[in-house]
Amino acid sequence: FSAFLTDNFGRRHSYLRISLTEKCNLRCQYCMPDEGVKLTPRSQLLSTAEVLTLARLFVREGVEKIRLTGGEPLIKPDVLDVIKELKKLEGLKTIAVTTNGMNLARLLPKLKDAGLDLINISLDSLVPAKFEFIVRRKGFHKVMEGIEKAIEMGFNPVKVNCVVMRGLNEDELLDFVALTEKKPLDVRFIEYMPFDGNKWNFRKMVSYQEMLDLIRQQWPDLERLETGGTTAKTFKVPGFKGQMGFITSMSEHFCGSCNRLRITADGNLKVCLFGNSEVSLRDVLRSGASDEELLQIIGAAVGNKKKQHAGMFNISKMKNRPMIHIGG
Ligand code: GTP
Ligand code: 5AD
Ligand code: SF4
Repeated sequence: FSAFLTDNFGRRHSYLRISLTEKCNLRCQYCMPDEGVKLTPRSQLLSTAEVLTLARLFVREGVEKIRLTGGEPLIKPDVLDVIKELKKLEGLKTIAVTTNGMNLARLLPKLKDAGLDLINISLDSLVPAKFEFIVRRKGFHKVMEGIEKAIEMGFNPVKVNCVVMRGLNEDELLDFVALTEKKPLDVRFIEYMPFDGNKWNFRKMVSYQEMLDLIRQQWPDLERLETGGTTAKTFKVPGFKGQMGFITSMSEHFCGSCNRLRITADGNLKVCLFGNSEVSLRDVLRSGASDEELLQIIGAAVGNKKKQHAGMFNISKMKNRPMIHIGG
């Protein structure tokens, strides 16, 4: 495994998240401020060719999984071409996408043909009016249709991301768990995290422990699974087809096992979801640098990655971009 992608704490970064666009067809409250965000001028965004050049380099050095994020990656006109090109990279085992699901039902057959392996879909409420309040747009039924169709088409697991916010959707936890009885879904409850402009505050956050206690009141025999990967702690109600996970960035961070790097739509390498340390790979690419020069810069950034960024105390004081600019 590449020394350039290994940090000082021995963490190997084999998972790259690439944001394909800063644009989105929804306006989720936890992701961006009411007034929206300023979009980066087109000339400063990575071109598809540049995205693929960087992807090739990272895969050559040991990246095995690439997740496409946004904004909303499925509104990027050439997302299918990106997936097809990524599919050709030897050594890349998994191509995934995190989507709001709005365009999913329509695109699924093409995504599958292009070679997409895994899909995570955001869904924060099962009540249409509440969904629309949270995302500030209409579209609940389209998202549900996308989720159904992803299951039908055999994507496995289909993960559903639910950001839990007190006073908004914490009363729906049990309904989301109930959804896993008949459907082979992996519902993930995500602790609400602060980002610029999302009006986070401590009281709105529902902790892992609180969620677990609530769910255990209804299903006391909830069973812990060992299949969560790096971010989610997973559980299952015995006999249910699906499962649930908790993403505990705030109350129990998992930085110790972090294997992720990120490239923003404007071409910055971000070594952690939190914190501002970013380096422009776009500028390096455009200066005509060789692969070796690029790798030196990537290696230096990875080398500077801190042991830990997440955790309530750290994050709530930290400046960061709005989530829409990072891609999760
Ligand atoms: P897989 O493990 O590949 O299924 O993806 P994921 O769950 O990490 O990705 P997804 O895009 O579905 O994001 C789900 C939640 O996890 C979002 O709230 C992300 O912000 C959060 N998340 C993703 N990566 C990290 C990370 O490196 N650190 C922390 N603290 N949270 C993360
Ligand atoms: N806190 C937690 N999760 C968030 N996401 C977006 N903003 C936040 C936040 N403030 C989630 C979305 C999406 C994933 C990429 O990140 O629900 O599923
Ligand atoms: Fe769009 Fe995702 Fe942000 Fe919602 S969380 S506004 S769907 S990018």
